[in-house]
Amino acid sequence: MDLFDKCYQDGGYLGVLRASKDKYYSRPLLSPKPGTVMNFNGKDVIMWSINNYLGLANNEELKKVALEAVDEFSTSAPMGSRMLTGNTTEHEALEDKLAKFENKESAILFNYGYMGVLGTLSALVQRSDTIVLDKLSHACMIDGTFLAGGKYRFYKHNDMDDLEKQLKLANKDRRGGILVVTEGVFGMRGDLAKLPEICDLKEKYDARLFVDDAHGCGVMGPNGKGTSEHFGVMDRVDLYFSTFAKAFAAIGGFTASKEEVVRYIRYNARTQIFAKSLPMVYVRAVDATLKMIQDKPELRNRLWEVTRKLQSGLREAGFNLGDTQSPITPVYVPGELEIAMKIIAYLREQKGIFVSGVMYPVVPKGIILLRMIPTASHTDEQIETTISAFKDLRDEFKLQLDSVKI
Ligand SMILES: Cc1ncc(COP(=O)(O)O)c(C=O)c1O
Repeated sequence: MDLFDKCYQDGGYLGVLRASKDKYYSRPLLSPKPGTVMNFNGKDVIMWSINNYLGLANNEELKKVALEAVDEFSTSAPMGSRMLTGNTTEHEALEDKLAKFENKESAILFNYGYMGVLGTLSALVQRSDTIVLDKLSHACMIDGTFLAGGKYRFYKHNDMDDLEKQLKLANKDRRGGILVVTEGVFGMRGDLAKLPEICDLKEKYDARLFVDDAHGCGVMGPNGKGTSEHFGVMDRVDLYFSTFAKAFAAIGGFTASKEEVVRYIRYNARTQIFAKSLPMVYVRAVDATLKMIQDKPELRNRLWEVTRKLQSGLREAGFNLGDTQSPITPVYVPGELEIAMKIIAYLREQKGIFVSGVMYPVVPKGIILLRMIPTASHTDEQIETTISAFKDLRDEFKLQLDSVKI
């Protein structure tokens, strides 16, 4: 059998879409300019699928900062890895500001969020250690767990009894440390990790806690410091992580923790040691964005206003949004793949509304998750148009919304 045989068949991850050369449901071609209206297949659509929470992705002030940085440094500087030739005082200053923002002693920058989680977990967790992670954790935490090479146990999504059970089991044959791993805001369902209870348990079992707050940083908490601030447990989270690819609308990520721990990660996170340093254009842009997040609470206030309007309108129309407690708005409707495709095409073609669809195993079989991301830039008119489109969808498809059990 030839290694490439599988490439000519429709097996594997999303293989059916790959084999059909799909460009509609997977890898749709969108105009790259981010906004609440974007061009899809030559047509303007109201965009509800990008994580531009604070609406900063096309911000003029930030664009100016980035353009000046490119003018001064071009696109690649500094060349080389941080370890050798790619460290600058500006990288270090940004790390200090991020650490301070998260009430931590220190922070380390990564080039991508995915690489940050892989690097952090694989640096800290060794063969004798155990990771106990939420079953719905993002792929980067699962891949980081496998890369780390220690023992691991999944616990049922947000189920504190099961977390305790897994911690007890991990403790029983314990030969090293234990790290509990969870998202802060779960990216698909929008529910929050039960951080106060998780903190109680990790302390009871002498474990540490890593929170990937990709969807919470800049969004949750009175000052946008994240889900740990929302729950008042910032000092109990041992390792706080976020990407810059969502509220920050840039590229990169960071882990914040105690000084010695971050220094250890700095010298052991292979995904960053053996990778080129984050370019100056992003260092400057993220620095300016962090300041904007702190100086402009009105952006976060508007995001939550849009969220409330969208979610209450959809709920009043009979849609089940599960137990989201964040801007992430999952609209659960009954149906299998074929119906999901028809619904998505109906919204895009007939109503000019772009949403993404998510299916099993993220949600139980027979349920379609239409995932919507409100942003601070959406207008009241766009919200009303969208709610009205969903009412038409409900009637046109005769959706049995009461039948959805999530
Ligand atoms: C929870 C979570 N962690 C990490 C990542 C990866 O971040 P990045 O896109 O910066 O690699 C994502 C992005 O989808 C995410 O949702």
